[in-house]
Amino acid sequence: MQKFVIHGGKRLEGDITVQGAKNSALPILSAAMLCDGESILENCPELSDVYAACQILTHSGCRCRMENHTVTIQAETIQNAEIPENLMQEMRSSIIFLGAMLGRTGECISGYPGGCELGSRPIDLHLQAFQKMGVKIQEENGILFCTTPNGLHGAKIHLQFPSVGATENIMLAAVLADGETIISNAAREPEIFDLANYLKKCGAKITGAGESTIFIEGVKKLHGCTYRIMPDRIVTATWLAAAAATGGTIRLLQADTGSLEGILDVFEQMHCSCSHTKKTICFSANKPLKAIRCLKTMPYPGFPTDAQAIVMAVLCQVKGTSLIEETIFENRFRHTDALMRMGADIQIAGRAAIVHGVKKLHGATVSATDLRGGAAMLIAGLSAEGETVITELSHIDRGYDKPEKILANIGADIRRR
Ligand code: UD1
Repeated sequence: MQKFVIHGGKRLEGDITVQGAKNSALPILSAAMLCDGESILENCPELSDVYAACQILTHSGCRCRMENHTVTIQAETIQNAEIPENLMQEMRSSIIFLGAMLGRTGECISGYPGGCELGSRPIDLHLQAFQKMGVKIQEENGILFCTTPNGLHGAKIHLQFPSVGATENIMLAAVLADGETIISNAAREPEIFDLANYLKKCGAKITGAGESTIFIEGVKKLHGCTYRIMPDRIVTATWLAAAAATGGTIRLLQADTGSLEGILDVFEQMHCSCSHTKKTICFSANKPLKAIRCLKTMPYPGFPTDAQAIVMAVLCQVKGTSLIEETIFENRFRHTDALMRMGADIQIAGRAAIVHGVKKLHGATVSATDLRGGAAMLIAGLSAEGETVITELSHIDRGYDKPEKILANIGADIRRR
């Protein structure tokens, strides 16, 4: 089993080039399945989730090759509309292949994603939307059998909650469906906008992506294209948090500052200094940090749930009391046990975490509980006194492309063993 061994307390200083966004690469890989020509996706991060997505494409008969952060997909040879159960379990976001398979082949067989480390993650909004679009769904022993006896057609769909996954799945099913689909109360995350831009480059007719109402006019065919995946805003937040926790000064290159408003604002409230151009962030934490009165996770453009654990790791050592409210997932505080083992003072009350800043965290052996929880442990370990060992790295490897190399380059003492 691999682990990170970190000797904390080193101030981070230097440049990092931000990797491509996992949460954009995965839906776009799935969208490539809808195209008749070849798609070349640049800036794809090398992550276990991306490999799993490539395996789903290969299993369905597409040709898929990854080299130097570029994935080339040829989907004309598609013949199998099944998402293998093991990949469904390995990566919950396999569910976004459902919409693409329905759009491309009119059917799909897929495992039913169960709960996960963040709590129950239902897909009722996805399935209700598909049914409105003409999909018949039968569930047997936890397997979903989806067919479209009369073809897939557009529909007016109002989402009860602006679910990112459901918005993506509907878009994927709608681009080749018959007629117009209108999604109201759609998710507005930047990754939705990126998916729409890729699909439009392939010939899809979409307007309103990035806003609350998205209009999609189905077309007969999509062709492939060359497309560059947007920078990862959560990885950006992670490196900012690592610098903040160690009193560091870093420059982030190839970032997408337009998608970071809610995040940069929080670091500024903590008294970090951030100046940025469109693609570069100059960040410094050379003053004592300030606690945050109330930080609430919200759908975009609010503060992202994915950055909650990461910012909590910084606040653990900030004088004063910070309050964090998690409104998106029911069970997203599992990382707090590890942080407390490292000396943090955190109280959990339902969906709120009260963080009383301590002077210093100390090293400990901890297990990554989930992807972003693991990232929080990395940040805590970088700033703690002594040695921190993090196990269960498979969680971290789902979302971070060689983090130990990136951090070692800017002065961290971290090794993968
Ligand atoms: C969520 C995040 C996304 C993040 C991703 C990975 C939000 C709004 N979404 O996206 O930014 O990148 O996790 O961590 O912050 N829900 C239902 N029924 C459904 C679908 C969702 O009840 O069919 C509920 C979920 O239980 C959850 C909320 O809606 O409480 C958010 O779900 P959703 O946006 O779909 O989650 P992801 O797409 O995984």
